[in-house]
Amino acid sequence: MDLFEYQARDVFEKHGVPVLAGAVAATPQEARAAAETIGEKSGGVTVVKAQVKTGGRGKAGGVKVAKSADEAEQLAEQILGMDIKGHTVHQVMIAQGAQIAEEYYFSILLDRTNRSYLAMCSKEGGVDIETLAVERPEALAKIEVDPNVGIDEAKAQEIVDAAGFDAETGAKIVPVLQKLWDVYQGEDATLVEVNPLVKSEAGDIIALDGKVTLDGNADFRHPDHEALEDKAAADPLEAKAKEKDLNYVKLDGQVGIIGNGAGLVMSTLDVVAYAGEQFGVKPANFLDIGGGANAQVMADGLDVILNDEQVKSVFVNVFGGITACDEVANGIKGALEILGDEATKPLVVRLDGNNVEEGRRILDELNHPLVTQVDTMDGAAAKAAELAAK
Ligand SMILES: Nc1ncnc2c1ncn2[C@@H]1O[C@H](COP(=O)(O)OP(=O)(O)O)[C@@H](O)[C@H]1O
Ligand SMILES: [Mg+2]
Repeated sequence: MDLFEYQARDVFEKHGVPVLAGAVAATPQEARAAAETIGEKSGGVTVVKAQVKTGGRGKAGGVKVAKSADEAEQLAEQILGMDIKGHTVHQVMIAQGAQIAEEYYFSILLDRTNRSYLAMCSKEGGVDIETLAVERPEALAKIEVDPNVGIDEAKAQEIVDAAGFDAETGAKIVPVLQKLWDVYQGEDATLVEVNPLVKSEAGDIIALDGKVTLDGNADFRHPDHEALEDKAAADPLEAKAKEKDLNYVKLDGQVGIIGNGAGLVMSTLDVVAYAGEQFGVKPANFLDIGGGANAQVMADGLDVILNDEQVKSVFVNVFGGITACDEVANGIKGALEILGDEATKPLVVRLDGNNVEEGRRILDELNHPLVTQVDTMDGAAAKAAELAAK
């Protein structure tokens, strides 16, 4: 999960990273009120910053300096509702205005290839770092970070030296990098990026912009992370699926897909996309109900898919392994009983693998008006696509 800048600021503050005062606002009036308090610390000057989960807000006109609370209100009026790279601005952050002397770059990220972490640092921050990495790679220091050691004082010193900071500035940055490591490790992040990390006119090091990505796999260790979720942006079907612990991703199509095992579901999407070409339909979702799919899981899965208004037919593609086909067939039967009148769209079921004969027999016997059995994956995909096009 990516955080908004104001959330990253809060997380930084919690771990002792130096940040400036900031408050989020959803209306120009709230922006004015925030600017009145926050501006007191910086001679009335604040910065109104669009809160969208994309970079380059400054260039797009989403970061503006306000010299008074009046001006902050006007700027918030301008920025709220703006579209930045396809993201609508629903909130702005009112930040204390900084007197910037220099802008630097720092990030820590997960380096999957090397099974390690990577710290990147540059004296030339504030700019588009991808461009810097391509045009002047020597200006961007890259230092491997041992996950077992992290960024201790020695590692932080190695990073600032590699980036070419003078001794005095380097000494001020070292403790900040250690605190940013605390954020990275303490919050189970996969990315912490500060661009720019600035030196103020007064010589203080401050994290002025923050990008943090949290590892959802570690959510169980962080009950407080749930509050950081952007519930407004979540697709309602995906939210419902999440509540039920289903591996569901909404797509833009008409054929609902349920399968067991991520690999099988991925290839099901492919065959449905292929079969759907001649009918002008596409897969509507990814849904992996995993092994051990009982009636309740099947019912939960069908419930989510049938609530997708775009869905016209559902393809249930199961390869029986540890969970045998007869259990899955009973799961489908149970699911149809649980759903009752709510099940309204045709289901094409393809069963294969462990105990397939018994599974098919159970569904034949059920003889449900909505269920069609097809023995092959390609055949079933074609049937589901055809039904969706009707
Ligand atoms: N609180 C602030 N005070 C003064 N200048 C700021 C402040 N926040 C941002 N800026 C300036 O605006 C630029 C862009 O802001 P930033 O937060 O990095 O947004 P983005 O990276 O999305 O463009 C920064 O490089 C900095 O020069
Ligand atoms: Mg930035």
